[in-house]
Amino acid sequence: MYFRPVPLILAATAALPACTPAPVDSRFGHTGQLIALSGGDAGPQAACHTCHGLDGGGDGALVPRIAAMDAGYLVGQLGHYADGRRRHPQMTWLAGRLNSAERLAVSEYYASMPMPRTERILATDRQCTSGNAAVIYHEGLPERGLASCASCHGGMGQGEGTGNPSLVGQSADYHAEQLHRWRKGERYGDAMNVMHDAASRLHEEEIIPLAEYIAYGPGQSRRRESPEECP
Ligand code: HEC
Ligand code: HEC
Repeated sequence: MYFRPVPLILAATAALPACTPAPVDSRFGHTGQLIALSGGDAGPQAACHTCHGLDGGGDGALVPRIAAMDAGYLVGQLGHYADGRRRHPQMTWLAGRLNSAERLAVSEYYASMPMPRTERILATDRQCTSGNAAVIYHEGLPERGLASCASCHGGMGQGEGTGNPSLVGQSADYHAEQLHRWRKGERYGDAMNVMHDAASRLHEEEIIPLAEYIAYGPGQSRRRESPEECP
């Protein structure tokens, strides 16, 4: 009888480290900037700037610009990676390791950054629109039931609110990759599947010219009237 309390006290002592509140405090103490630079609780492999750049402008290829994007859009996409509606090895892995407060903080941090310089995206001078890219973007193709991209993303690709993201300052490669993902059903979860629907109505050969047109900046290219005028 006399010995009974001893194991109880030991058990209570042994349980103490698991109750230490420090890790919980550190999670909620992370600011958006700290997560961007250190990866927060997901660790250094998740430090956003190593891939997205210190200015958040992306790499001009398959890593997108996230600076100056709408915070609601960014946090929504991190949620899509975390729950599998959007799949990508690194982004899925790290989004799942950030809690919702961290995802919001880092999204607000990038949303508050200025628009990065976009020269790296405009590696080639694409002042000429090829094929029907400008028509698809600004007018859509009523005969195929395809609404204009501008009706949601704006005439200059500037985006509209939380739902319809800004498209400027992203590379043609990234745009084309995303349009292909929707066509293959590898990205979903947007309201009413608008992008799966839009991408499915495009012909395969229209995707790259359209992606290039958007990357140059919709509304800034000249429509090709003749090969001599705009080779
Ligand atoms: C190892 C490289 C890498 C790291 C680290 C990384 N990203 Fe990404 N991120 C990518 C790539 C590549 C994509 C494009 C994935 C795709 O095609 O879906 C992407 C896409 C995104 C998108 C979608 C943007 C859009 O326009 O839809 C968001 C938001 C994002 N990343 C935020 C972050 C945040 C926040 C961090 C840091 C916590 C981070 N990323 C760290 C490589 C990375
Ligand atoms: C009815 C509205 C609507 C129309 C029309 C539309 N989009 Fe979108 N677009 C969206 C929404 C909403 C998203 C965000 C989807 C998500 O949350 O994953 C999006 C996302 C995108 C993205 C991904 C951006 C990123 O940062 O990852 C690209 C690229 C894109 N749209 C291109 C186009 C093109 C090209 C067209 C015309 C053929 C078009 N969109 C027509 C609403 C629209």
